[in-house]
Amino acid sequence: MLDEAFSHRVVIKQSADKPVVAILTIEDDVQLFRGNRRNFADLIRTGESMGITTYVVTVKNLKLKSARVLGYTYRQEDQAWVASWFPRPGIVYNRIPLREDERLPHVQRKLSAIGRQPGMRLFNRRFFNKWSLFKWLNEHSRTRRYIPETKKLTEPAVLQRLLKRHELLYLKPVRGKAGVGIMAVSIEQEKPLPYRLQIQDDKGSRTYRLSSLEKLWERVCKHSDSIGEAYIAQQGIRLASVQDRPFDLRALVQKNGSGRWELTGMGARVAGDSSITTHVPRGGNIEDPQKLLSLLFGEKKTARVLRKVRRAAVILAKQIERASRSRLAEMSMDLGVDERGEVWFFEANSKPMKFDESHIRNKSLERIFQYCLFLHRRRLQARKVTAASEILT
Ligand SMILES: Nc1ncnc2c1ncn2[C@@H]1O[C@H](COP(=O)(O)OP(=O)(O)O)[C@@H](O)[C@H]1O
Ligand SMILES: [Mg+2]
Repeated sequence: MLDEAFSHRVVIKQSADKPVVAILTIEDDVQLFRGNRRNFADLIRTGESMGITTYVVTVKNLKLKSARVLGYTYRQEDQAWVASWFPRPGIVYNRIPLREDERLPHVQRKLSAIGRQPGMRLFNRRFFNKWSLFKWLNEHSRTRRYIPETKKLTEPAVLQRLLKRHELLYLKPVRGKAGVGIMAVSIEQEKPLPYRLQIQDDKGSRTYRLSSLEKLWERVCKHSDSIGEAYIAQQGIRLASVQDRPFDLRALVQKNGSGRWELTGMGARVAGDSSITTHVPRGGNIEDPQKLLSLLFGEKKTARVLRKVRRAAVILAKQIERASRSRLAEMSMDLGVDERGEVWFFEANSKPMKFDESHIRNKSLERIFQYCLFLHRRRLQARKVTAASEILT
């Protein structure tokens, strides 16, 4: 169904030296399509300012066999989303916002078909899950050093073994997001109720004290069952903190105009009072990494730590892409720095949220399209090479 603003404008003039980029999302009965509209509008504006035809398309409307595609664009004048015909895309940027939607069979079928389509490039095909990330990064010694010890949380013995090795554990749903379902466990042997369990809720965290491993397991299961996801148990890292508030780093890593991974920017997130995570909606706040780290480590060591973090982010991104066997253009990453200045990887997200820091935000929008230009150039070159060899033979 199309709204009244539907216009039959067909964009036919398309310069061959610029790609056509479709931002892929899923249809919605009420509002045409799902996803962060502000983000999509920013992407379209940036793409067009670089001469690249950019539009939003839904899984249903992306007909792979037809030359034109029904997409949506944002009209600045009256701030409205309007439907329009566009040339079929050479590049598809997957921004389906929810795991549940991406998992639907018709969506999976379309994503596979896009991946097989000659002349079409798809990136950020799927959400990550925390267990796969761990396995991928564990495959290589270059990245293994950054990951906290992690196990599937299948039985109480897993907790018992990990608690012998680490004084703090984090329990996290494999498909978690925004701190939902996260728990932290620690043990204080000398106390009558030695097991301490913290459960993250909307703003802060609730703390339970338990007398035995069995009781602890019972309480953990009660919570993980209510979340309905498989869990991992992970070595807890004592994060660097300022005024008793731990902080971690959120890095955005993207491919640049030469197709190489590069750190676009990095912000710090300081945990809210009594929160076991650093998410802003849970009372966390945004800070400058350099400023926070300098308070702890001084200028010189901070420069060293930041160099280490930048290097780690790029190495981790490369390994994630290689092991996932699927083309990626960007990911955000949660990295921790511990009290000694060592770097740790917590998770990566293949559908990064908008960064609030405007310098990171602007650069990130441009980089997406610089990478699209790179992909397009490479395809044109490959075509020229094929044509030349056909003439020669
Ligand atoms: N192993 C850990 N040790 C210490 N802190 C952790 C650990 N894992 C997660 N955290 C904290 O919890 C936050 C959320 O964890 P994360 O793995 O990013 O899950 P989510 O998907 O919910 O964002 C992290 O940004 C970090 O502050
Ligand atoms: Mg996170």
